[in-house]
Amino acid sequence: MTPISPSTLPSQRDLFDIPDEVAYLNCAYMGPLMHAVIEAGEQGVRAKGRPWEIAARDFFSEGERARELFARLIGADAEGVALVPSASYGLSCAARNLRLAPNHRVVVLAEQFPSNVYVWREAVRTSGASLVTLPRPADDDWSRAVLAAIDERTAVVAVPHCHWTDGGLLDLTRVGARCREVGAALVVDLTQSAGALQFEVSAVQPDFVACAGYKWLLGPYSMGFLWVAPRHRDGQPIEYNWSARAGAEDFARLVDYRDEYRPGARRFDVGENANFVLVPMLNTALEQILDWGVAAIEATLSARNTRIAERAADLGFKALPGAVRAGHFLGLRFPDGDPPDGLAARLAAEQVYVSVRGSSIRVTPHLYNTDADVDRFFGVLAKLASSHS
Ligand SMILES: Cc1ncc(COP(=O)(O)O)c(C=O)c1O
Repeated sequence: MTPISPSTLPSQRDLFDIPDEVAYLNCAYMGPLMHAVIEAGEQGVRAKGRPWEIAARDFFSEGERARELFARLIGADAEGVALVPSASYGLSCAARNLRLAPNHRVVVLAEQFPSNVYVWREAVRTSGASLVTLPRPADDDWSRAVLAAIDERTAVVAVPHCHWTDGGLLDLTRVGARCREVGAALVVDLTQSAGALQFEVSAVQPDFVACAGYKWLLGPYSMGFLWVAPRHRDGQPIEYNWSARAGAEDFARLVDYRDEYRPGARRFDVGENANFVLVPMLNTALEQILDWGVAAIEATLSARNTRIAERAADLGFKALPGAVRAGHFLGLRFPDGDPPDGLAARLAAEQVYVSVRGSSIRVTPHLYNTDADVDRFFGVLAKLASSHS
């Protein structure tokens, strides 16, 4: 993987619609939209008001651009990118194309996000295979735990790049190599990392990569990606929409039904993927992310989170050590077990926005944050702690 660039970026707050008094530290919940992304969406809505100006080629051009942009973000080829509405849709395509037998095992992490769990529960239920849920390792080293769990019985390893509760990091390059050794498929959910944590398809060599677009890709809701390795590109989609078929560009001949699909991973595209509102919005966001550069975003967020973790340590909170945590992601564990009831709501009442996940406060800033946001977070936290004691 390319080394992290040491250069960091200044706050990009002006590009976003976030009032000064709002300390939004919750990108892992939902990325806010930039002004330019909102404008792209408004243009899309207006375009649909004048359908006589929408030509057949407009059904495909923005989608092709989206494939290219996402491919650049993860070091992949655009031909392998399918347009999907959610991570769970992409993961369902993966499960549909990975055959399981009763002696097979599917490996997932404890408390993994449900979109990458339910699909495997169903796959093992219908095939007789087993789901292996790895417990959270005492030393928080998920990479070691996953590597130790993979053996000849493993058919699928279905994991994120970092855990969605606290940023616990997986070394996917090593996991990918181990999967290849035993002939297991690697299915990766990048929803909590793509755009903010460097990932290279050529280094990891996964089978499938799914990613929702509304968090770290700073895109709209209901639009995401699935990258499919060349060996699976002749697989079965989970639905049969006309626009995935060869010749779909010729609207006059759509009833010359075709068995062949459009090339690459386009057969996995969701129906009505030519979404005139959402796709241009996502493209606008991806262009800005590529312009900033994922390495620079990662370096900037890592530096900010390190400072937050140090300050939180003075109040008794514990974060995962840097070596086993994704730089862009932070979970602060409470000194004495579970967080007080309603903590996130009490912070929100002061316009400080974070999530509580399990026994951690999840703090996930992005480039729109400022030092003042972080000061507000600590100010309110200290106030709540003193009113509690
Ligand atoms: C790791 C992870 N994957 C996926 C999702 C969203 O999944 P879907 O697009 O299926 O709603 C989330 C949402 O929080 C997530 O944290």
